[in-house]
Amino acid sequence: MATYLITGAAGFIGSHLTHTLVTRGDKVRAFDNFSTGSRRNLSRILNRIEFHEGDLRDADAVNRACEGVDYILHQGALPSVPRSVKDPRTSHESNLNGTFNVLEGARANGVKRVVYAASSSAYGNQPGFPRHEGMKPQPIAPYPVQKLAGELYMQSYWQVYGLETVCLRYFNIFGPRQVPDSPYSGVMAKFILQMMHGDTPTIFGDGEQGRDFTYIDNAVSANLLAMAAPAEKVAGRVFNVACGERHTLNETYRILAQLLGFDGLPMYTEVRAGDVRDSLADITAAQEAFGYKPLVGFEEGLRRTVAWY
Ligand code: UD1
Repeated sequence: MATYLITGAAGFIGSHLTHTLVTRGDKVRAFDNFSTGSRRNLSRILNRIEFHEGDLRDADAVNRACEGVDYILHQGALPSVPRSVKDPRTSHESNLNGTFNVLEGARANGVKRVVYAASSSAYGNQPGFPRHEGMKPQPIAPYPVQKLAGELYMQSYWQVYGLETVCLRYFNIFGPRQVPDSPYSGVMAKFILQMMHGDTPTIFGDGEQGRDFTYIDNAVSANLLAMAAPAEKVAGRVFNVACGERHTLNETYRILAQLLGFDGLPMYTEVRAGDVRDSLADITAAQEAFGYKPLVGFEEGLRRTVAWY
């Protein structure tokens, strides 16, 4: 039976992947330092996984976690564009040095494939929608620079060492277990909690910025498909993971408010430093290479997320 290492396994996306693989009957080793993730996210399956508490910045700990592993889903990171603007060094060390440590651990231990959580923020603010993987990346904030540099390392390890690596550029993934109460929380979780508490959400800018919000089940499915696809279709490549639809923040706010019976108006303030204005993906490459298609659409995703909180 194959053994999977999931970094960031106690976090939002990592915990969903961990649950899915464990339920499917796979052997999972989970790696997390609980800096943004939580043990609670794995509480129902803790006795069915091997847990390594460790930090991605610790090369020895990462190397130990890679021993005897066939496949790695590298989800661990310090997410958030604004966090990277405020403290670029810490996010650099976790996101880029951490990714390097994972690749070195994979290389030393003969791991077959690494699937890496890359970010749509790499496209930056250039003209041209939808974003496709052939476009030249134009990262703005430190976070996309780190995530993009991680992609380049992934591609290098495929070309130089023959380690099969696949980069999945996530577009604003949302859903159950996304942290709602951190200053660095994704907007969806943040708005839901604020509306539930009767607080006034803040919209940075005019609210007409768009995002290709993508429900978590779609990201999980993309990872499983990318992990199983033939190497000649995916190794050394980068793929968008999204729904291929753009929704504005104002629209998202209206739907959430309706679902939650919230009648307060948002407070508008200035645009957040480092933000991109718009985001919309072309998902053809993932469809063609490994049969990816979004399973849960935007509104259904919102309903499921609201129901969970
Ligand atoms: C970015 C990346 C995404 C990455 C994520 C990691 C892009 C297009 N996407 O998401 O791929 O996974 O970082 O953290 O760059 N906002 C408000 N009020 C709030 C919070 C946010 O108006 O209280 C706005 C932001 O200014 C932004 C939008 O909501 O315009 C989405 O913000 P957020 O959820 O933080 O994600 P991104 O920064 O878009």
